[in-house]
Amino acid sequence: MGRLRMVWLRSTWWLTCTASVVLLSVAADAWGQEARPFAGLGRTPSDAERRDVLVDPDGRELPIGSGTAAEGVTVYARRGCTACHGPTGSEGPAVALVGGQVTTRTNYWPIRHWPFAPSIWDYIRRAMPYDRPGTLTVDEVYAVTAFLLYRNDLIAEDYVLDEQTLPMVEMPARAAYQVPQAWTLETPRGFEIVPEH
Ligand code: HEC
Repeated sequence: MGRLRMVWLRSTWWLTCTASVVLLSVAADAWGQEARPFAGLGRTPSDAERRDVLVDPDGRELPIGSGTAAEGVTVYARRGCTACHGPTGSEGPAVALVGGQVTTRTNYWPIRHWPFAPSIWDYIRRAMPYDRPGTLTVDEVYAVTAFLLYRNDLIAEDYVLDEQTLPMVEMPARAAYQVPQAWTLETPRGFEIVPEH
């Protein structure tokens, strides 16, 4: 290969490189222009929206907080859980939270038969009290969950429930739990439909 040709090749090489860099920066600039019209959109989620974040069965998304069964007794009474679930949690008129038997007739799974403890936290946080859902603070939910787990003999009375310890609570139903098959049109219902009167 002649010397001249080498020089020529090298300069074309450099020229290509420089051209690519220039082209890339032009493209990036155009991209920036494109992206800018969206700037300033969106907003910080409200408390209600934060509350709607689903806590995974393994505890992912649990917010920082804590509570004990002793604090939970007070929450249970002060927040009116007693009115529907009874003074100790097993009298009703609403479903028993302490004890209770699984029945597929009404699709009732007492919480001591739930396979994952964080799901109990998540349920209370988003759905209870039934008539005023979302009114409990994060710490109150930890406390009342601790109270119910304690009354169901699942944790000790002084167990401090928080975002780290709640996923570690061993639920007896965990071992028998199987991840459900993907749903299809043929999948039978897990429970009977009870007609309303
Ligand atoms: C106005 C009545 C009412 C109040 C007050 C109430 N609940 Fe409930 N609760 C219900 C009803 C009804 C259900 C069943 C809901 C369903 O299956 O759709 C239920 C279900 C539950 C469950 C799920 C039980 C299971 O095994 O499926 C938990 C846990 C629970 N409540 C906790 C609480 C706590 C804690 C409080 C107080 C902060 C509370 N509830 C206050 C009526 C109430």
